[in-house]
Amino acid sequence: MPVIDIHNHFFPRAWPDLAARYGTPNWPWIKHTEPGKADVMIGDRFFRHIYSACWDPQKRLEEMDRDGVAMQVLSATPVLFAYDRPAEHALDCAQLFNDAALELCAQGKGRLRALCQVPLQDVDAACKELSRSMRAGHLGVQIGNHVGEKNLDDPGIVTFLQHCADEGAAVLVHPWDMFGQSRMPKYMMPWTVGMPAETQLGIVAMILGGAFDKLPRSIRVCFAHGGGSFAFLLGRLQNAWQHHPVARGLCELAPKDYLNRFYVDSAVFDPRALKYLVDTMGAERVMLGSDYPFPLGEHRVGELIRSSDLPQHTKSRLLGENAEEFLNLSRNAAIESAQTDKASELASPESHQLTYSSYLRVPELLQLQHPQSRPQHHDELLFIIVHQTYELWFKELLHDLDAVVANLQDAGKNPESRDEVYEAARLLRRCTEITRVLVEQFTILETMLPTHFLAFRGKLEPASGFQSEQFRELEFLCGLKDEKMLRYHRPTPEAHAQLERRLKEPSLHDAFFEALCSMGKLQIEKNASERERFDARARAVLSLYRDEPSHRDWIDVCERLTEFDELVVGWRLRHIQLVERVIGTRMGTGGSAGSSYLKLTLDKKFFPELWEARTLLTE
Ligand code: HEM
Repeated sequence: MPVIDIHNHFFPRAWPDLAARYGTPNWPWIKHTEPGKADVMIGDRFFRHIYSACWDPQKRLEEMDRDGVAMQVLSATPVLFAYDRPAEHALDCAQLFNDAALELCAQGKGRLRALCQVPLQDVDAACKELSRSMRAGHLGVQIGNHVGEKNLDDPGIVTFLQHCADEGAAVLVHPWDMFGQSRMPKYMMPWTVGMPAETQLGIVAMILGGAFDKLPRSIRVCFAHGGGSFAFLLGRLQNAWQHHPVARGLCELAPKDYLNRFYVDSAVFDPRALKYLVDTMGAERVMLGSDYPFPLGEHRVGELIRSSDLPQHTKSRLLGENAEEFLNLSRNAAIESAQTDKASELASPESHQLTYSSYLRVPELLQLQHPQSRPQHHDELLFIIVHQTYELWFKELLHDLDAVVANLQDAGKNPESRDEVYEAARLLRRCTEITRVLVEQFTILETMLPTHFLAFRGKLEPASGFQSEQFRELEFLCGLKDEKMLRYHRPTPEAHAQLERRLKEPSLHDAFFEALCSMGKLQIEKNASERERFDARARAVLSLYRDEPSHRDWIDVCERLTEFDELVVGWRLRHIQLVERVIGTRMGTGGSAGSSYLKLTLDKKFFPELWEARTLLTE
């Protein structure tokens, strides 16, 4: 399990004199005081002591190794946001530091990644800089929790967040420019009091201002410092929402129903606070964030989570798995391999020996269930697990059926050899047995009362079985190629591309009849119509059955294919029965007419010629 720190900062070793560059005072600059140490100054004012980990990748990597951190996602510091300056200066400053971040990451052996910053006072410029940075290699953006008087529900900021969703950029919201500073001149109170309140304000503004309702679910937003005081005071917010119409804001749901729309980091520095945070937000919504390498950060990164009483699987989520989702790391193979190499080493240095768990990836597997209902509905876990097991078996079916296609193609090339035909039949037998289990498996889901399903069904829209990529792949692979079904996969370009590939590849149906052609059992006239081709194929099958002693192995293949076809129709039927049992004749979440649509699919067969041959046999 990779350990990923999503909230830490950097300063380059040096940067241009910004005050001179823009002709305005009080920009941050760096004063190196002794080897490996420096002060960040703002104009004449001291701002912060920093040390070489801020700019030296080697130092960072050493300290990451010391703390067992596989990857850091670094961002600049809010003093550089410059949202209160002319937008062109803020843009130029953002570009300087965004490029500097990537230079630092380039020396990070694949273990350093970055979030950019943008001139958020100018939405167009912010969107452009985000796109430029994403193309250059940033994983997302760090933004402040407000731009002057504008909170995160400001229409311009919502437009920018929409752009982040479109670009697939992760968003880290960091408090800055704290209010009430005239009353907090001392004792770092803007950091200890102002920042948590600013962050809470950011979250509450997004919820009550309706920003989450306007944004797609694909937006990935995280609030720093455990979300500030939000989680602890959620009850107060909820109470106000329920009892004071004026406190309701513009949101469609109660505040507690938005907890699955954002993440928070773990920088709360108290095990009880961490536990409360996880209880409130859910184990899948809290991520390791350290504020490293600043004095207010966690001094041994990850220590709070590791030493907590949280269950091991929750710790794994917090230490890295949630961050993988937040950062969408699986989309980037390069990052993935970098992190797995180092991360698996760091995750369990002692575990070089293969165990049951490590071989089967049991901890990872058990982390893949993320119920959406709040509070969690008891039966949603069953719903998820049943679907996941279907998908696992679909994967095995694709694996075996691909091998069947290859064997049939080889059998066609080498008609004398029996081995490939035997192997095809053997694997088809496995496919029929798996499908038999898949038909049976619906009964488990039928232990869920319709009312229980309805209690969380609303959370699932618009997800639908229509979007099962593997189910459609199976249909395409077997020969039922309906290009129209691709439209359900537009939101997932990789699935779409994979299905397009399947559309072009020879199907099982093609491979079987090609083999019969190669054996001389099937001849099709060049100009034959579809109907004539179909009849020729059916008669070829007929000829196999009519001469059983010579074709036992091919007949075995035919029987397995027929049985597979039969079982898939059985699957369709049992699925319809389940659907009617649970939602009657209501529409599906995918927008179809529900069971009446599904009934139309009962006529679909992969190998209609095998069935036609039976009619011909009885003539
Ligand atoms: C409560 C349980 C379930 C209900 C109410 C349900 C409902 C539906 C409905 C109404 C459709 C039609 C498409 C739509 O409008 O969304 C559909 C399609 C589909 N469902 Fe389910 N389903 C359930 C469980 C399952 C399970 C366990 C699987 C296992 C993989 C599954 C796989 C599929 C597939 C692959 C399709 C597409 C079928 C096709 O296009 O021929 N469903 N489902």
